[in-house]
Amino acid sequence: MADVGETRIITRRMHERPDDSWTIEASLGSGGYDGLRKALTMTGEQIGQEQVKASGLRGRGGAGFPTATKWSFLPKGVYPRYLVVNADEGEPSTFKDRMLIERDPHQLIEGIVIAAFAIGCNLAFVYVRGEFALGYDRLRQAVDDARAKGFLGTDILGSGFDLDIVLHRGAGAYICGEETGLLESLEGERGMPRIRPPFPAIEGLYAKPTVVNNVETLATLPHIILMGGEEYAKLGVGRSTGTRLFSLSGHVNRPGNYEVELGNTFRDLIFSPQLGGGIRNGGSVKFFIPGGASSQWLTGSDEHLDAPLDMDAVSALGVMLGSGAVMVYDETTSPALVAWRLAKFFAHESCGKCTPCREGTGWLEKVLYRLSHGLGRPEDLDLLLDVGDNISPGLNAPFSQTTICPLGPSAVSAVVSLNKYFRDEVLAGIAAAEVPA
Ligand SMILES: Cc1cc2nc3c(=O)[nH]c(=O)nc-3n(C[C@H](O)[C@H](O)[C@H](O)COP(=O)(O)O)c2cc1C
Ligand code: SF4
Repeated sequence: MADVGETRIITRRMHERPDDSWTIEASLGSGGYDGLRKALTMTGEQIGQEQVKASGLRGRGGAGFPTATKWSFLPKGVYPRYLVVNADEGEPSTFKDRMLIERDPHQLIEGIVIAAFAIGCNLAFVYVRGEFALGYDRLRQAVDDARAKGFLGTDILGSGFDLDIVLHRGAGAYICGEETGLLESLEGERGMPRIRPPFPAIEGLYAKPTVVNNVETLATLPHIILMGGEEYAKLGVGRSTGTRLFSLSGHVNRPGNYEVELGNTFRDLIFSPQLGGGIRNGGSVKFFIPGGASSQWLTGSDEHLDAPLDMDAVSALGVMLGSGAVMVYDETTSPALVAWRLAKFFAHESCGKCTPCREGTGWLEKVLYRLSHGLGRPEDLDLLLDVGDNISPGLNAPFSQTTICPLGPSAVSAVVSLNKYFRDEVLAGIAAAEVPA
């Protein structure tokens, strides 16, 4: 294993100026808004369909959809149109957007102005997770300071382009991170996902064309503009270009957010002394969840640890990089207990709009509870798979779904992984716990 370190692009300022990186002074003192100045000399088309497209940037919110392609879906000549920033970050163990907002809000604002200019939008909304108290305060201050310096408001830097930003605090519901649930919530409705089509690009916020992008996606834009799209695309591997911010947690020696060039491996991330630093007490990896709670799991096998951090390559293993959260578990961990805890989360967060998810997630949680608390029955694993199959027919990844949004199928990932890698362990646990007749 190589001694891999971070490649700091979107995290550079917060490391160089740890005491004040969130202020306008620190931003302007370290290249802040230079990307915007350059972007304003281009046309929107040049930014989106030349620079961002050449960069290969794919969304950092979970699905990995190419950003330039998403922007290109906006119908020509239809205004107003909106940019909505997804700062809800509710995926368990994902904590990167929070850091980007708290430590470098001006980088995000700069990215928002560039994106809005590129797509021809004059009003952007940031949907901020309700619990982000410090992040919200810093973002609020940063918006005010950016406006005072002419980076927001009317005639930005003399370009004739106008943009305002509305900050909106969520109330802590995971489903409001799903883009159409978010739009409903922003409109003042209950946060329940919409049936698609129409997709937000055609009919989004207030039934107007809308782009929804993640915080990290937007924070990357100033650097793409400054570096040039082609230069940015030299980082990374294949269609997974650039860096990503990985939230590493669990039984590693050095949990935290690490900005890593794509193409390095999970082993690098978990074991490199400058990154995860290996497993606590010199232990080994029993399994890990590579892309947030919604992903299926991988094990401590060489095949899995040596898999590259590459959005396409990992899908061949039936998993995803998702929101960039990697949860690592050592040999002391009960996989059934982890599966139960995840199921409890999804059951709690199901919005209840569709029956397979509303009923199924609760059922999964109940069965996994008894399975992980010494009360399991030999038929329970098959029962779990049966319930899961009603939510996500075929139990494959990428999943199919009988539901409106992917939350329901996400709850099935842990069940499938438990059965795939730990069936014998679970059955042995049930047999050992059985009370003799
Ligand atoms: C249940 C659920 C929760 C989600 N939560 C978030 C979130 O907190 N933040 C986020 O950026 N994307 C989240 N997403 C993905 C968004 O729907 C959307 O794909 C993303 O914001 C698009 O931005 P991007 O193209 O820049 O990645 C979630 C998706 C689902 C299904
Ligand atoms: S899958 Fe679950 S969370 Fe998504 S819309 Fe249906 S009930 Fe709501």
